[in-house]
Amino acid sequence: MSQELIKQLQESADYIKEEIDIKPKVALILGSGLGVLAGEIEDKVEITYDEIPNFPVSTVEGHAGQLVLGTLEGIEVVAMQGRFHYYEGYDMSLIGFPVQVMNLLGPNKLVVTNSAGGANRNFNVGDLMLINDHINFMGTNPLVGPNEAELGPRFPDMSEAYNQELIELAEKVADEQGLGLRKGVYVGMTGPTYETPAEVRMINKLGGDAVGMSTVPEVIAANHLGMKVLGISCITNMAAGILPEPLSHDEVIETTQRVKPKFINLVRGIIKEL
Ligand code: 6GU
Repeated sequence: MSQELIKQLQESADYIKEEIDIKPKVALILGSGLGVLAGEIEDKVEITYDEIPNFPVSTVEGHAGQLVLGTLEGIEVVAMQGRFHYYEGYDMSLIGFPVQVMNLLGPNKLVVTNSAGGANRNFNVGDLMLINDHINFMGTNPLVGPNEAELGPRFPDMSEAYNQELIELAEKVADEQGLGLRKGVYVGMTGPTYETPAEVRMINKLGGDAVGMSTVPEVIAANHLGMKVLGISCITNMAAGILPEPLSHDEVIETTQRVKPKFINLVRGIIKEL
């Protein structure tokens, strides 16, 4: 069964390699809204997910999502423009699959971005947060199932799930850009509901600073592969119960739009130094 996984990964990676003549150094997962960064990749090759053998089939309205391969700040990259969420109904292992495929193309670093709710009362809407650790509250794990030793260990270490050197690099770049950054713990929930105020108080008590519905599965898969991970959250709204007004997806979208330029600048500045 797990040999089957290796075969599938190889098949996906071979298909992509046929289309490109670069060897990406960095993998990027761009959350909704940040996808425009993929549009800024130069000499790019775009491969929609539905043409890659074995890739999960996207349920996202309108667009399939795609891999974009090319150079950004002179660095060869592979970017996921659009990601798979557990709440869409995929098996958790499928959410790790694209990370495993990207790793086969060459990169040993992963930069992952998302939008998240602020659970830390000191945070403000529009803040950017470097993820320094996470709590997996999704009730499962993308590595459940037979382990393929070629990919990584049965019991992966997660003591530095988010690479400290990359965190320090991101802090240096932000500093040079005159950009203030938060740092904290990302809590991954399944969604698709936002949390209740009681759940947000729980998250807070457990040490969570931001809460979202992505990232944790991909970061687990990346750590299994021995990749170094940098995670950045855009705090698009405060989590439930912190502010008097109810949550709205419109606010999430509005904040993403507003913060996009500084978010893109930061990610570009970081990639340049990788
Ligand atoms: Cl408040 N919760 C979750 N789970 N995901 C979010 C969010 C909140 N805000 C943006 N994404």
